[in-house]
Amino acid sequence: MNVILLGPPGCGKGTQAGWLRTEIGMRHLSSGDLLRRHTADGTDLGREAAAYMSAGKLVPDQLVVAVVLAEIAADPRGEFLLDGFPRTVAQADSLATAFCAYNLELTAAFVIDTPDEVIEARISGRRQCPDGHVYHVEHDPPQRRGVCDHDGKRLKQRDDDRADVVRERLAIYHADTSPLIAYYERRGLLHRVDGTLAPTEVSAQIRARLGVAAR
Ligand code: AP5
Repeated sequence: MNVILLGPPGCGKGTQAGWLRTEIGMRHLSSGDLLRRHTADGTDLGREAAAYMSAGKLVPDQLVVAVVLAEIAADPRGEFLLDGFPRTVAQADSLATAFCAYNLELTAAFVIDTPDEVIEARISGRRQCPDGHVYHVEHDPPQRRGVCDHDGKRLKQRDDDRADVVRERLAIYHADTSPLIAYYERRGLLHRVDGTLAPTEVSAQIRARLGVAAR
């Protein structure tokens, strides 16, 4: 299986990807995590991307496509769970070309429908460890406050989770990323799930559509 998770910032793509990775054993590829790793490592690409990310803008297609396709090319045996990529029609076309070259097929694209007002509340309570494990202070708290259950690292608030930046990210989602809903619908691959449900219920909907049971 190869699956895309689409939806506005904070709709729960990373949360669902974490569970699917653990429960189904898919290979999680998050473009945001990959870019943040470049930034933390101080690469040229990371420095260039950081300016766009902290302003809530999309990183230019050629940079993101290079980062994600390099990960796919490194081990193109499939079982990819793409989180946050593609985010523009140009990125979706590049992904389709790469999949064709590696003889991979896309199984489904899930859009996690979540209204803007729910997003703003969620993002303000998000805490994340440097390795990308995601929590929410109310809906999904760690066992020990401020500490990751998985690796014991300190949880932090992301720089781009400020209210003004979140509003910019939402506007960009509606303008540049939401056309992908029609793109995948036309290809018969789109599934909508209700992102206002509890994380466990969202996950149950995704698993049911993929025809897989929880381990
Ligand atoms: P990225 O890291 O991809 O961020 P995003 O898409 O904006 O999404 P988020 O990570 O903010 O949210 P999420 O949907 O994963 O939600 P989460 O599970 O954390 O991208 C960051 C930046 O990188 C972009 O702005 C851009 O600059 C750049 N970038 C990345 N990819 C790019 C691309 N392809 N092209 C160009 N630029 C790119 O959940 C949020 C919170 O809600 C958590 O606290 C969680 O615990 C909680 N929660 C989750 N689900 C539920 C639920 N069902 N009920 C209640 N709470 C919930």
